[in-house]
Formats: sequence, structure tokens, C-alpha cells
Amino acid sequence: MSVPSPRVRKVVIPAAGRGTRLLPATKSQPKEMLPVARKPTIQYVVEEMVGAGLSHILIVSGRSKRAIDDHFDPDTSLQAELSRKQNAELLEQLAFERLDVHYFYARQSEPRGLGHAVLLAEEFVAGEPFVVALGDSIIWHGENHSLMTRLIETHLQACAAATIAVEEVPAADVVHYGIVEPKHEVGPVFPIADLIEKPSVEAAPSRYAIAARYVFNPQIFEMLRRTEPGHGGEIQLTDAIRQLLRAGWPVWCVRLEKDQQRYDIGNFESYFRAFVEISLRDPELGEGLRAHLRRLLAVGEENGS
Ligand code: UTP
Repeated sequence: MSVPSPRVRKVVIPAAGRGTRLLPATKSQPKEMLPVARKPTIQYVVEEMVGAGLSHILIVSGRSKRAIDDHFDPDTSLQAELSRKQNAELLEQLAFERLDVHYFYARQSEPRGLGHAVLLAEEFVAGEPFVVALGDSIIWHGENHSLMTRLIETHLQACAAATIAVEEVPAADVVHYGIVEPKHEVGPVFPIADLIEKPSVEAAPSRYAIAARYVFNPQIFEMLRRTEPGHGGEIQLTDAIRQLLRAGWPVWCVRLEKDQQRYDIGNFESYFRAFVEISLRDPELGEGLRAHLRRLLAVGEENGS
């Protein structure tokens, strides 16, 4: 896998949203810490970033989010205990604590929107191009197909001000997503003319939905400052990207490949699906789970339920 240019080394992971759609599960714990199969969601995000050669991670957290900071702190007493018990298998489960990465934290004391969370990263970013990866979305990909690497390479080659990962969704689902309007024909990478939050099926300019990963140049901060609070009184990142487009800056998209999939943990329907699908891929327990589900569903069909 090719590693992106060292010109992009910083990532912002917004993880300060309230997660109200997952209540009561998220009343006192961050949705980004909800487990999907063996790991908390945000650990997949961090591992994806490190796998793409990114080394400086700013997590934007907030009220009731301490579990995130605790998770990424190396726990030396737990390591010592597992070493003493010679439990190599469990020690291996803590390998993520030793990733070659520098963590930084910002606090969004009130969730004033994704755009506001990104704005808090301005000092950390210090004038460099940077990645934004939503802490509640997992990108699953096959071997050697890093979406992040393609996103960063496209951003640099196209001299874009913003580059957005997009996935094709069924026509009926456009109403749930931010949808992009391609400038010309759509290829694996393509420039856009506009984007629209949650359009009706008729008004949707395409079926390409924004998929939780972005690369930005620092101009985005100026646009975020100019952005008025929109839906729900929150500062929306998509509104700031529209401002970039209006100011004439190029914005590009990178399409998820066939073997790449986005799992949004933000609502129960997609969280349940993510848990089942990713658990089915577990090297040790996946096959057993598959057999169990087959039996369960066959009995359900026999009983007509
Ligand atoms: P969502 O748009 O799903 O918002 O966040 P939310 O507020 O967490 O969810 P609901 O609607 O209350 O259920 C997408 C990502 O942006 C972060 C979230 O933590 C999530 O990872 N976010 C959102 C922030 O960091 N700050 C915010 O103010 C809003």
C-alpha cells in the first residue's frame, strides 16, 4: 500500500456529538465507544488513520466522553498484570496502545455542530492540509485498498481545497444523507459543483452520499467562521464546504470502491447491521455466528415469524 505524502499527517476526529439517536445506550457513554464486534467504534477509526500513515490525531470530545481518552491511554498496570499472568493473547489485544501516533484532545463543551467541532482544531492544524474522520463511522476495506490514501493523493494531485469520500446509495436513501452534485461525469474521482443536505428523491442531484472522511486545506476555517448556524442551530460542515465552492475553490470527491463499505454507528438500524456484518468477519467466531444465524432464521421461517 502506498503511504501518502508526509504533507498530510494530521487528523481531526470529531467525537463530541450527543448521540441522541442512540439513547438510552448513549446516556452516559459516548456513541464512539460503542463496541462493534470486538472493538469500540473509534478504535477502528484510529487504526484506519494510522494504517494510512497519519501520525497526529486530535480527538474532539466533550461532556460524558472521558471513556475515549481513557481508552487510548496506555494502561501500564493492566499490561503488567497480563504479563505477570503470561497471558500473551490478551496482551495482544492491547497492541493498539502502542501505535506510533501522537494523541491530542480538544473539548467541545457544548455540541454546537460538526462544523464547530472542526473549527476547534484550527490551532492544532497550524496551516497544514488535514483529514477529518467522523468518530462514529467505520470504513471497512479489503486488503491494500486504503480509502484514506486515495483521498489524500487525490486532494494533493487535484490541488483541491476539500476532498470528500462518497458512497453510492440506493435512490430512496438520498433523503438521509448529504448528496453531492458532480460537475461532469462521475468516475472513481470527480469534481463537484454543489452539495445538498438530505434532498428529496426528486431533488437529489446524484446518488453519491458524503461518507464520513474528508481532506481539507486550512481555508475551511475561514469558511466555518463565516457559516451561520443552520439546521438545529448547529454549524454544519457541509455549509462551509458550500462556501468554499461559492468562493470558487475546487472540491473533489473520491468514490468508495466495491470492496469498501461505510458503517454509520449513529442510528440503531445501521449500528445493528454493522455489529452483525463485522462480527461475521471475525476470524475466530465469524463462522460459528453465521451457522447460528442460519439456524435461527431457518427456524423463524418454519414458524412463519
Ligand atoms: P452526528 O451528526 O451524528 O451528530 O455526528 P450527533 O449529535 O452525535 O447525533 P444525534 O443526532 O444526536 O444522534 C457525526 C459526528 O460528529 C461528531 C459526533 O460525535 C459524530 O462523531 N459531532 C457532532 C461533534 O463532534 N460535535 C457536534 O456538535 C456534533
